[in-house]
Amino acid sequence: MVYRLNDPDFLADPAPTLAQMRAEGPLVRVKLPIVGQIWMTTSDAAARTLLKNPDLFRRDPGPITGKPLAKRFWWMPGFFKPLLDTMIVMDDPAHRQMRRLVELAFARATIEDLRPQLTKMADGLLDAVPSGRVDIVKHYTRPLPFLAICTLLGIPEDRHDALTRRMAPLSAVTNPFRAIYAVLRLRGVLADFRDLFAQARETPGPGLISALVHAEEDGQKLTEDQLLSMVLLLFLAGHETTVHLINAAIVGLATDPDLRAHFAENPDTRHLLIEEFMRHISPVMTTKMMFAAQDTDILGAPIKKGEMVAPLLLAANHDPERFETPESFIPDRKPNAHLGFGFGPHVCLGMQLARIEASIALDRLFARRPDLQLAEMPRYLRRPGLRAPASVILKL
Ligand code: HEM
Repeated sequence: MVYRLNDPDFLADPAPTLAQMRAEGPLVRVKLPIVGQIWMTTSDAAARTLLKNPDLFRRDPGPITGKPLAKRFWWMPGFFKPLLDTMIVMDDPAHRQMRRLVELAFARATIEDLRPQLTKMADGLLDAVPSGRVDIVKHYTRPLPFLAICTLLGIPEDRHDALTRRMAPLSAVTNPFRAIYAVLRLRGVLADFRDLFAQARETPGPGLISALVHAEEDGQKLTEDQLLSMVLLLFLAGHETTVHLINAAIVGLATDPDLRAHFAENPDTRHLLIEEFMRHISPVMTTKMMFAAQDTDILGAPIKKGEMVAPLLLAANHDPERFETPESFIPDRKPNAHLGFGFGPHVCLGMQLARIEASIALDRLFARRPDLQLAEMPRYLRRPGLRAPASVILKL
């Protein structure tokens, strides 16, 4: 059987299909748009085994198949290709080197320092939200995570609007044609970033851009392409993902009166609620694909050298071997060792930022608009690898 992750029935209620997948074994065949057929894991244990064996399951197919990743993106404009070489598709030691450069900026304490600024930004956005029928994604849940990344990077406020406009097409990428359009629109953004790098070189300032421009690894500075690909990766990996977590949480709270009461009455355990949304919805259903460096049956079924494989994080997060009553939403579930942010050397770098953004976004929205209602039940988004509401229209 070949499964499809963007089937509307699967997205709305994955439990029956996940059970069927698990019954087949630790690995199943899944068809992904653009990529084609790939092996995916069906349990928490298989997902962890895959993610903690980076020497066996590699991100860069070049040395294994002779076909580097860039060749898969033959349709991308040439100026953009060097920027595809981001750390998320790198193997060690290159991955470790790149990650070390940015890790400090993502330390929990440093991210916690951003809380007051982000709370002010959330309130500023909410001040401008109209009443009546409101697309809250447009007014609030999309701009807030974008501004959070700008703040982390140290991008001055007077550049935020132009950047938002130029990067908007990236959120609408569903096929190669839209990807080309979005990438072409990015040309202007790249010029903006180059400008910011030049400024930071001259006058070091706060924020990650300045830190990266001045960072040295073994006496070597990052090249302009490496700087660009790092900054773009942060927007690509950190924006949409967080928007979807916040959207799913708003829909969940708006449609379940008991959950909403729990949220209102238990401000001290809201962090647990956010983890449960991460587990239950699993907004990022899979990680980047990997390539087997040799024939192996370490995942419980034979995989041939060069074959593509990825962990299905959603299946791991709903695995009854790992979670009691995985289909139930338990707002203060503890422990909750979900894989929603990945696992192993590539585990999400921005998870503390995402958690803080989600907590601020929900706290401020429900404090300011305690009577909010959902105006219509959204369908699920159909974007490869994502599971989240396609829209959030509120009655305010
Ligand atoms: C709810 C929001 C988020 C979710 C669900 C999420 C999920 C993930 C997952 C599953 C991975 C592992 C991917 C893989 O192994 O291929 C990952 C990696 C990554 N994430 Fe996140 N992420 C979120 C927010 C963020 C934010 C806010 C940032 C930064 C601004 C960020 C930056 C990154 C980066 C740079 C990586 C690659 C790390 C590496 O390759 O070493 N993420 N994320």
